Formats: sequence, structure tokens, C-alpha cells
Amino acid sequence: MTLAVVAALHDELRSLLAHLESPRVEMRGGRTLHLGRLAGQDVVLVLSGIGKVAAAATAALLIDRYGVRSILFTGVAGGLAPDVGVGDVVVADALLQHDLDASPLFPRWEVPLTGRSRFATDPPRSAVLQSAVDEVLAASHPALASFGLKATRAHRGLIVSGDRFVSSAAESAALREALPDALAVEMEGAAMAQVCSDFGCPLTVLRTISDRADDAAHVDFPRFLREVAAEFSRDIVLTALAKGLG
Ligand code: ADE
Repeated sequence: MTLAVVAALHDELRSLLAHLESPRVEMRGGRTLHLGRLAGQDVVLVLSGIGKVAAAATAALLIDRYGVRSILFTGVAGGLAPDVGVGDVVVADALLQHDLDASPLFPRWEVPLTGRSRFATDPPRSAVLQSAVDEVLAASHPALASFGLKATRAHRGLIVSGDRFVSSAAESAALREALPDALAVEMEGAAMAQVCSDFGCPLTVLRTISDRADDAAHVDFPRFLREVAAEFSRDIVLTALAKGLG
């Protein structure tokens, strides 16, 4: 059985694709699946596309058609909590869809008929991922300095997802007020977590903070993606695989 590594953007996956041994490509559901071996493990690397539907469809495909034993989602996110800055890395403990609201029929954020708004990631695998993050962040990363960033930090906790790129101070403040323990916001993780929960498939989610989800353009996003986030993804995923994340 294989481990799936999923990202929403090509730059987030490209650095890992270069390391894939015995690569083989399959097309399915409009997606290109790259099968092969990475750090001694059978893997499938795939771009989900952006947003919750794309993430959910990809998770269902990977689990039901490819029988993957677990999924690791890697990519970038906007920082929400005050101490989560650009260049930091977040490992999710749980995920929630911040734009899901079937009230008054169901409580805000609750996935109807499940009784749940928060979906947990796999604790043992997340611990392995976290130790890989700590190891990689402890090394020096010259690219950070070119963005005016110094030491970056690791965080663990709640990530929230929605079908919106959060890019105004008002919206990120509203999210912070509504969900004070949310560390970061992105557009896929919670959808993937819901599908993984339906199928009983273990999930881990890794996000490098690319922006503060407000109206300030802190960094050149495409360059940050290529030079920092893609390298973090590659180094952390390869380290986690070597540490036995399966
Ligand atoms: N991914 C990276 N930054 C994001 C943001 N500000 N909002 C949603 N998804 C993101």
C-alpha cells in the first residue's frame, strides 16, 4: 500500500517530484498521479487543485481507487494566530471548515449529520511529521534571509479551511474572533479531513505560512512558494518519510 502526498499548487509538489524513483504516471479524474518510490517508500504524488471540492475529490480517488494507507497534505497557508508568522510551519491537529454554516438547522461549522465540526489528524503520524519539522527548521535556510525572515517557528493545532483566499485584515480579524484557537487558514485541509474520516484513512497536514491573510503584501508569493515553501515541503516530507511516516 502506498502513502499519498498531496498539494494544491504545482510549485508545492515539484521539488518532491524531482526525487521520485521509478516514476510512473497515471491520469484519473482530471488529475495526474505520479507513482514511484520516495525515501524507500511506495508513494503517489498528486496535485489536488485548489479548494475544498478539489481536495475532497482527490481524497476519495486516492482512498477508494488507489487504496492508499494514509495521506499527507503539504502546502502553504495564511497565518491567523498572532504569533504565526510568514515562514513558520504548522502541523494540524484538527481541521474545520470555517465557511460551512447550515444554521439554524445545525450549529455553525458542524458538518450536517455528523455531529462534528472538527476533524482530527492522525496523532502518531502527526508526531513524526512534527519531529521532521523541528529537524528541518533547526537547519539553516539561506532563502529566508532574502525575504527578511530570520528564525521560523513550528506550531501545532487547529487549521481552518474555506473556499476563499483570505486577503483582508477585516476577514482575518473576523476569523480570529470567531475561532480564537485557529492557527492558520487555507482552502483544502478540512475537506480532505472529512473524507478521510468517512473512509477511516489517516491524514496529516503540513502548511508553511506564506502570508498573514490580511491586505498587506508581506512577500512576493510566487517567489516565496518556489524558494521557501517548496524547499520546506521537500525537506520535511523526505525527513518524515525517513523517520517512518507511512
Ligand atoms: N493559502 C495561503 N494563504 C492563504 C490565505 N490567505 N487564505 C486562504 N488560503 C491560503
